[in-house]
Amino acid sequence: MDHDDPAEALTAVRERRPSLLELLQVATGSGLVAYTVWALLLQPGFRRVPLKLQVPYIGASARQVEHVLSLLRGRPGKMVDLGSGDGRIVLAAHQCGLRPAVGYELNPWLVGLARLHAWWAGCSGSVCYHRKDLWKVSLRDCHNVSVFLAPSVLPLLEDKLQKELPAGARVVSGRFPLPTWQPVAVVGEGVDRVWAYDVHGAGPAVSSCGVPIKAIPESSSTSLPRTLG
Ligand SMILES: C[S@@+](CC[C@H](N)C(=O)[O-])C[C@H]1O[C@@H](n2cnc3c(N)ncnc32)[C@H](O)[C@@H]1O
Repeated sequence: MDHDDPAEALTAVRERRPSLLELLQVATGSGLVAYTVWALLLQPGFRRVPLKLQVPYIGASARQVEHVLSLLRGRPGKMVDLGSGDGRIVLAAHQCGLRPAVGYELNPWLVGLARLHAWWAGCSGSVCYHRKDLWKVSLRDCHNVSVFLAPSVLPLLEDKLQKELPAGARVVSGRFPLPTWQPVAVVGEGVDRVWAYDVHGAGPAVSSCGVPIKAIPESSSTSLPRTLG
């Protein structure tokens, strides 16, 4: 083959199969990049959090945010997003009139990004993002709580909510339902589904048999009858 011809040389390069060593180099390089992103951007803040309580960042979709707002809109009192990520739910809540709207987030990069988004939206003085561990903040004055967390932490979260939330508070949980509470409303389908729970005087409505209550599939929104008051 005459490699003096650039077209032929290009074809030869394209057709050449990568050696095992080259493949290993690519795999190692990609692993290093992934590790660096994880260590620098995603891991900060989690160093002192037990592994089973670490929930990675996945931002809510526009539809999920819409569903959260549909369940909280018009309600009085403080709104908090526990694990607020880039702050999209808090900002949207503030913009639809929930005041004050506060986000608690461990990852400092995400807190910075949330503040930047708020500044960009002209709300920097009015929404609050705190770099705090959600397990260490008091929820005693929170009347509207939003959570988009992993199923592994939800049983523990139920205990915290039950102990700290005042009567009349509403909790909305995205993607995964709280394991034993009885939802009063369910909005959306699949990964966009959001469950709402109301806290009554003696704590939240809990499934009477102690097992998770399956949400009824529906096209967009369902209000469920309350079983306990
Ligand atoms: C699935 S993301 C949801 C982000 C945001 N709520 C949304 O829906 O767009 C979960 C967030 O919780 C944060 N997080 C996890 N554990 C936390 C903790 N102990 N305290 C504060 N934030 C935490 C993560 O850093 C991540 O940003």
